[in-house]
Amino acid sequence: MNQNELKKTLSKIPLGDVKYFDSIGSTNNEALAWATSDAKDLSVVIADEQTAGRGRLDRKWFTPKGTALAFSLILHPTAEEKPYLTRMVGLAALAVVDALQTRGLIAQIKWPNDVLLNGRKVAGILVESVWSGEEVDCLVIGIGMNILKGAVPPNALLQFPATSLEESLGPDVEREEILHDILAGIIALRPHIGSDSFIASWEKVLAFRGEQVQVEEGDGNQITGRLLGLEYDGSLRLSDEQSNSLTVRFGDVRLRPHP
Ligand code: ATP
Ligand code: BTN
Repeated sequence: MNQNELKKTLSKIPLGDVKYFDSIGSTNNEALAWATSDAKDLSVVIADEQTAGRGRLDRKWFTPKGTALAFSLILHPTAEEKPYLTRMVGLAALAVVDALQTRGLIAQIKWPNDVLLNGRKVAGILVESVWSGEEVDCLVIGIGMNILKGAVPPNALLQFPATSLEESLGPDVEREEILHDILAGIIALRPHIGSDSFIASWEKVLAFRGEQVQVEEGDGNQITGRLLGLEYDGSLRLSDEQSNSLTVRFGDVRLRPHP
């Protein structure tokens, strides 16, 4: 990644401090450690390669050198934002969708934390919290995006198909510009996180909306239903065959289209 280019591009948005690494274990781990010391709001950790990138529940996230975007944004939630922290994953996902839309691509959110292009995963989001007693003090929003084809793991390692921006846009993708647009999008959406229109925008880009889906829970339990939309807190709203309403909360859950 061209550091001069990166600095110039990011200087256009009001970030805190920026730390760049050619290679790191996980930008989220670095950001969590920084968040517990002296990181300002909107500080960012960016890496060209991750050797121990993480998805949810410690699943592996691949970030081979020079092929992807991998960064973590530190937020100090304001008092107004604190009631809506469960919406933050949606806010980050919407910023990713918007950045892709600017480039003529129609992306969708596979609830809760993945962004799909042509039905394949192009980006993943991992939101983690730093607590101070009973209160969330900081959030770390980690985003990984496959830019070049080389970022996509071999099929054998995937539970869900994956893609890269190169497959839609060709190899001349400006990583720094996309990073800029996602960060600027998060900053622009933040003041709207508590609004009803925010939930409506998130619902509008949900993958499989109106379709039959399956939710696999960590204990092996499966829920089948039609995906209706979102609850107030960002939980998923389904209806079963008897039209009973079901709510799927964040946690060890995986969403799939009904086979
Ligand atoms: P899925 O629906 O893909 O099974 P999940 O929600 O259960 O995802 P996550 O924790 O969101 O799991 O994502 C981690 C998973 O993403 C890994 O287990 C791996 O299969 C897949 N993965 C890892 N690296 C990448 C990548 N660069 N691009 C796309 N998928 C990846
Ligand atoms: C997922 O789909 O489970 C989320 C993947 C999140 C990956 C990003 S890459 C930057 C940040 N650092 C990590 O270790 N994980 C997140």
